[in-house]
Amino acid sequence: MISKRTAVFLTFFLPSAMGVTEMVALPAAGGGAPPMLKSTSTSELDWASLTYDSSTITSASNVTLTSGSPDFEIYAGAFSLAGRWKDGKLYGLTNVGNAPEDGGCCADSFTVYSSSSPSGDVVDLSFITDLFPSAIDGYAYPTHTFDIVDDLMYLMVQYKDPALGAKADAIVVLEMDTYEVVQTAQGDDYFSLYEKLATTETDSASSVFSIQHYAASSSDTEEWHGNGVTAFTMQDGTDILAITHRSFNEAILMTNPYTAKNGGEIVQRFGKPGLYNAMGKSQTQHDFGGIGSTGGDWNGMHNVYYSVSPSDGTETITVFVNSDGGSSSAVYNFDINLVSESDLGSVDDTAFDTEWRKVSLPFQTGSQGGARPIGPQYDGSRVFVVASGGASKGIYVISEDGEYSNYGDGEGTYDPFVFYTVE
Ligand SMILES: *[C@@H]1O[C@H](CO)[C@@H](O)[C@H](O)[C@H]1NC(C)=O
Repeated sequence: MISKRTAVFLTFFLPSAMGVTEMVALPAAGGGAPPMLKSTSTSELDWASLTYDSSTITSASNVTLTSGSPDFEIYAGAFSLAGRWKDGKLYGLTNVGNAPEDGGCCADSFTVYSSSSPSGDVVDLSFITDLFPSAIDGYAYPTHTFDIVDDLMYLMVQYKDPALGAKADAIVVLEMDTYEVVQTAQGDDYFSLYEKLATTETDSASSVFSIQHYAASSSDTEEWHGNGVTAFTMQDGTDILAITHRSFNEAILMTNPYTAKNGGEIVQRFGKPGLYNAMGKSQTQHDFGGIGSTGGDWNGMHNVYYSVSPSDGTETITVFVNSDGGSSSAVYNFDINLVSESDLGSVDDTAFDTEWRKVSLPFQTGSQGGARPIGPQYDGSRVFVVASGGASKGIYVISEDGEYSNYGDGEGTYDPFVFYTVE
């Protein structure tokens, strides 16, 4: 059974004509390199402005996308790779030179920018490496993204696990004010997806409620290149921790191991993780979500984003799919539909069947990328803000009817999650 905290009941209503202006930042995703090497503190952060009616939009053609001018200045260099906005401050993962540059990894710090500190203050994160004393070569670093949820910062961390002999993914949580490590409900300093959720079995049913891992021949092998992370409380009170990992082309929702001792159980997956043999060779792909066949094998997913539809209260997750086998990247949005393994008689991929929809993008990129819905999110007329990531085409507003607009062509921004609404 999925344990729930006291249920919170919300009423959904659509106010008439709600004019909204959003400022969306385009920090450069500079890879793992020290930002000092890739940019200077004289580069002013670029912003886009989105103006729309949050209760009526059904198409990207209802949204005005232009250059944005906040009434403050921030001089941010390249992040490694993502940033977040919280209470008037921009937090960006940075590398001041103590962490390696390694395929989108790694950060050793984050830098906090605000109108009173426009060039940023560096917060050292090297203590995160110390949480993994047995990591091979002392390799344990924040990587790609993090999220700020209430007073907690959830960081995706990549570390070299000595038992796996490869790079595994873990979540580390910090208190926002003190940056002290928060332990899981079981008293651990981190939640390792390998230690807690892995299987090395090679039959398909074994890797439905567990994540397949295999003994790699090189400690540089990534299993599975974690990128997106978020946490949220569902309308019925269930606390969820969610991640995406690139090489497994999927989002995973689990009960939050930071709020419940029996947390950390997989309750939904969406996407097409590979099914490997014992030699680490991909044989085929799972189909989690009831996606069916698309243009070919999936290759890459990024950035899990939770939202509640203002029009009908449906809870969905939005992800960026680098390739679903066709010639363009795509936004996939799926309904959250939690299942417990203990509630099922037999287990196969159909455990995670759900409703989903897709919007093809006017570009394809193998790296980075993120998306989130805006507006009332009516069935069939959803509108998304999308960052083009490694395609370096700035950000897009795009909708299910295929309409789109673009801002910041030439800029590579990891995700569209650094934003605030103008009051
Ligand atoms: C939004 O755009 C669609 C497609 O162009 C149009 O049919 C609709 O009237 C627009 N809605 C509003 C509220 O302007």
